[in-house]
Amino acid sequence: MPKIITADEAAHLVPNGATLAVVPMPSEEVYPAFARSFDATGSPRDLTVVWTAGIGPFSAEARGMNHFAREGMVKRVIAGHIGLNHAIGELVATNKIEAYNFPQGSLSQLYREIAAKRPGLITDIGLETFVDPRLEGGKMNERTRACEDLLDVIEILGQEKLLYKSFPVHGAIIRGTCADELGNISNADEALDMECLAAAMAARNSGGIVIVQVEYLSEELIHPHEVYVPGIFVDYIVVAGSREKHPHTMFVDHDPSYSGQSRADLSNAVAPMAMNTEKIICRRAFLDLRAGMNINLGVGIPMGVARIAFEEGLLAQVTMNTEVGLIGGLPEGGKNFGPAKNPMAFLTQPSMFDFYDGGGLDLACLGMAQTDREGNVNVSKLGPRLIGCGGFINITQSAKKCVFCGEFSAVGFDAVVDQGQLVIRQEGKVAKFVEAVEQFTFSGRHARKHHKDVLFVTERCVFQLVPEGLLLKEIAPGIDLQRDVLDRMGFAPIVPAEVPRMDAAIFRDGAMGVG
Ligand SMILES: CC(C)(COP(=O)(O)OP(=O)(O)OC[C@H]1O[C@@H](n2cnc3c(N)ncnc32)[C@H](O)[C@@H]1OP(=O)(O)O)[C@@H](O)C(=O)NCCC(=O)NCCS
Repeated sequence: MPKIITADEAAHLVPNGATLAVVPMPSEEVYPAFARSFDATGSPRDLTVVWTAGIGPFSAEARGMNHFAREGMVKRVIAGHIGLNHAIGELVATNKIEAYNFPQGSLSQLYREIAAKRPGLITDIGLETFVDPRLEGGKMNERTRACEDLLDVIEILGQEKLLYKSFPVHGAIIRGTCADELGNISNADEALDMECLAAAMAARNSGGIVIVQVEYLSEELIHPHEVYVPGIFVDYIVVAGSREKHPHTMFVDHDPSYSGQSRADLSNAVAPMAMNTEKIICRRAFLDLRAGMNINLGVGIPMGVARIAFEEGLLAQVTMNTEVGLIGGLPEGGKNFGPAKNPMAFLTQPSMFDFYDGGGLDLACLGMAQTDREGNVNVSKLGPRLIGCGGFINITQSAKKCVFCGEFSAVGFDAVVDQGQLVIRQEGKVAKFVEAVEQFTFSGRHARKHHKDVLFVTERCVFQLVPEGLLLKEIAPGIDLQRDVLDRMGFAPIVPAEVPRMDAAIFRDGAMGVG
């Protein structure tokens, strides 16, 4: 029978040198106890902390995964994303800890392989990107370069694959809404299911311990169909006792429309976007949406595509989903990326990525920080800024069509629309179309080999990935091809004799009316 303990008792239970699978759902009762315990006693120390998704807080504030930013307490992180956790990012950037960055989906799926005592996860995901051990092996800093590879390139059935190697999980920290007297866990009021079940089973079958943070204890036995993690996988329960310590996300304590407890009225939920470069990019990306599509929108500018779909009356005809496991509804954007209002269904994160990795997504619109002549894209590392790939590699490698969305240049860029023409008021200081990207988060070579349908959409032009490289497909009205496009790129794209203009409707006020 699981024991009910305090967060401090939970932290003391984790042995030095343990590998800890932390399911990234804000657990503000349990997480801080680790830092408290380490500061008071020097234990637990030398931990390897594994997490899949970034949960914020977009600063160095002691919240979310930043609670694990203690030199000595943590020896190594293996993470899907670190850019939102600046205190962790600082430890990695200054070589204080070892750090590996692996695709979020593959990491979540690896827990199932560990649970089943299989040698690891065999997948295409990551091939020819920085995760591939022939490139960087996902190693995020100099300190890690001397460390072992955590994945191998293998050949199986005549095909090249990556093997993400299994490792024992000595402890899992998971989360649920409530626990009954048998330790069964319900997710009834959670915004996401994530990989709690897989992580708990990985720890259980590795001989490790499973600690669950719940909001409250249920006086009744949970209906068996509503048990998300059975009590037989649970060792210890910590009760958060308040929404503040058990928030839905790092930015919203509680929204019943996230968990299906109630339905939000969405008729006025989406404010029209002001006419700006972001809207132009989202409108152009929207033109590739078709009724019936399954669509993933990535963090940043692409989230606006949902707002355009709403404005154009097409939102109800497509299914938006987020990689953390939500199908349908209206995904939240900005810093509160992850949950959705009125989701139709919850999947676990590993299941969602099974669907994605197998080609289930019709369209993915994702951010873009750097692109080069080969069509490679970098979003994971910008100079000293270590961001991580999140689900980007799973999604871009497997979606039927990829639309990369971003402004043409970064840092200080300013442009407006004047009478249907795009007017650049100030160029960004940093070019995004460069001779060579700093890191391969998306491999143009791999994409071309697999005949992927890929577009690069900016406010002033659109490129298409073709076998020879990047083909200029469209330019915006008001834009001079030589001055505003070609002279501002680190390489020469393929330019046809006639370059069509982007659809004039994109630059008009009012709905485009093209859906
Ligand atoms: C790449 C990414 C940062 C782009 O974000 P965005 O909001 O769409 O685009 P922006 O151009 O506004 O870029 C965001 C910031 O990065 C900066 N940036 C973007 N490209 C840059 C470049 N090449 N060099 C320097 N800075 C750059 C911008 O100036 C901006 O900085 P600010 O916040 O200080 O204003 C974002 O998509 C990301 O974090 N991706 C990685 C994770 C991911 O895509 N996961 C996929 C599943 S969600």
